[in-house]
Amino acid sequence: MIHFYHVTKKFDRYSTALHDVTFHLEKGEFAFLTGASGAGKSTLLKLILREMLPTEGQVVVNGRNLNAMKKRHLPFFRREIGMVFQDFKLIERMTVFENLSFILTVLNVSPKEHKKKAYAALRAVNLQHKLNAYPLQLSGGEQQRVAIARALINDPLILIGDEPTGNLDPDLSAEMIQIFSDAHLRGSTVLLATHDRELIRSSDRRVITLDKGRISRMEGGETHIENEPRPSGTPFLSASGSK
Ligand SMILES: Nc1ncnc2c1ncn2[C@@H]1O[C@H](COP(=O)(O)OP(=O)(O)O)[C@@H](O)[C@H]1O
Ligand SMILES: [Mg+2]
Repeated sequence: MIHFYHVTKKFDRYSTALHDVTFHLEKGEFAFLTGASGAGKSTLLKLILREMLPTEGQVVVNGRNLNAMKKRHLPFFRREIGMVFQDFKLIERMTVFENLSFILTVLNVSPKEHKKKAYAALRAVNLQHKLNAYPLQLSGGEQQRVAIARALINDPLILIGDEPTGNLDPDLSAEMIQIFSDAHLRGSTVLLATHDRELIRSSDRRVITLDKGRISRMEGGETHIENEPRPSGTPFLSASGSK
């Protein structure tokens, strides 16, 4: 689902954010991406979203070589990816429902389906009663759950989080990880960047560690994949199977 082949990313002559990174995340996997601040985690995620291109090497996501992808195909490509950021990025002047409806408009989903999808996504994060609240009327944990609902709203093939629990206390972080795990069980391939070692220790997921732009450790992986519950029969898996 996500393949990096000898990927190097330089921002200028002096700094190399990623150096010869090769890894594969298969469909249905759940992995943490970890490493100290500045290790290259956000850069790696931006390459997956094709917010930038590698300096060297190839990135293949959902069967598409991103180096070769045309700009006009980007919106269709990004429809398949749900993204959660540390700072939520909710639109403050819009209600929870309007935030979700807005993203569905961006994703070109017909307005008829907005209510149904918004309810379903909010139910998944237990916030259906906050439909008409504004972001600033919610706690930090609730805002983050709305951000996750927004990322999950179109059943993404891939769910990516960049320090999604960075602003939350440990109890809430565990709750967030549970929501990501639920999405994983429904069929999403999940990659979560975090420097929270405690969070990683408390789960038995695959861990990819970056150290100054290089992969320094890979725990889990192949053997782990076989133990993963293989989701099947979910709507989007059958849809993706035909691609
Ligand atoms: N747009 C940019 N321009 C120049 N340097 C950058 C840019 N983005 C990231 N970097 C550098 O690349 C390295 C990796 O950054 P980043 O991917 O944000 O790490 P992390 O998310 O693990 O903290 C850092 O040294 C950072 O300063
Ligand atoms: Mg980062």
